Amino acid sequence: MKFEHGPIETVPLSVPSLALRKEGALRRSEPLLRVDGLSKSYDGRTFALCDISFEVERGEFVAVIGSSGAGKSTLLRCIDRLIDPTSGIVEFEGVDLTRLRGRRLRTSRRRISMVFQSYNLVLRSSVIQNVLQGRLGYKSTVAGALGCFSEEDKELALEMLDRVGMADHAYVRADRLSGGQKQRVGIARALVQQPALILADEPIASLDPRSSRTIMELLRSAADELGIACLVSLHQVEYAREFSDRIFGISQGRECCQGTPERFTDEVLVEVYEKGLLG
Ligand SMILES: Nc1ncnc2c1ncn2[C@@H]1O[C@H](COP(=O)(O)OP(=O)(O)OP(=O)(O)O)[C@@H](O)[C@H]1O
Ligand SMILES: [Mg+2]
Repeated sequence: MKFEHGPIETVPLSVPSLALRKEGALRRSEPLLRVDGLSKSYDGRTFALCDISFEVERGEFVAVIGSSGAGKSTLLRCIDRLIDPTSGIVEFEGVDLTRLRGRRLRTSRRRISMVFQSYNLVLRSSVIQNVLQGRLGYKSTVAGALGCFSEEDKELALEMLDRVGMADHAYVRADRLSGGQKQRVGIARALVQQPALILADEPIASLDPRSSRTIMELLRSAADELGIACLVSLHQVEYAREFSDRIFGISQGRECCQGTPERFTDEVLVEVYEKGLLG
């Protein structure tokens, strides 16, 4: 477990009803994310994802690996509802996201941040303006469109920029940054959303080894220190093994293997990648 508990508080004694105690017990054992029987077909004939099931606990770091076209991005996009799954359940904080629409979906999605391979920054805007985009889910549409952010939002943005080592670049235009710096801003934007889950789709695919390590360390510390679960698709197996609590291997849209990094021996990796290539 990664959470550190403070001193135990004494609370006034009261006996909760059985129903409430049962509910509490259920909540404690409930995973943060439960994906069950998830499938996605883009063309109605072939499946990019087929019957995928797994869970992610709060504060857990899970890597998704698989060859090109295996379905990693499709999986992350279905979880964040950037695309609609064809069938299956995506239960996040106890709510099935696949059944939500409109405001209720937007409210649940606030607790899920995305980090992209290509950073998705507004290049002509300053770094802090980019980070503040992560607060948009908490604003009315009008306030968001007018760029009205509170002092608290700005303080939080600066705090998160400091966390990723970019506070001194807060007022620099985003197009002046290197790739590694852009991704650090992408992570700060994800963090100001105060998410319970970060979905990162190949966050280090465009970076050199040094920047890649920094980004992986930042994501890992978000899990360890802030209790934010991370589901990270990666091509770099060695980073998946080093940084993850668990790895989920996909091949041709289907689960190939899931478990601790130790389970991903060279033989298992051959299966994950060769099956995909032979496809
Ligand atoms: N928008 C789309 N329309 C139709 N087919 C798609 C679409 N996006 C992905 N696919 C197909 O779905 C399958 C899975 O693609 P996906 O992008 O999820 O794989 P990936 O594991 O992320 O690959 P990569 O490592 O190259 O990013 C592939 O066969 C791909 O061609
Ligand atoms: Mg992809």
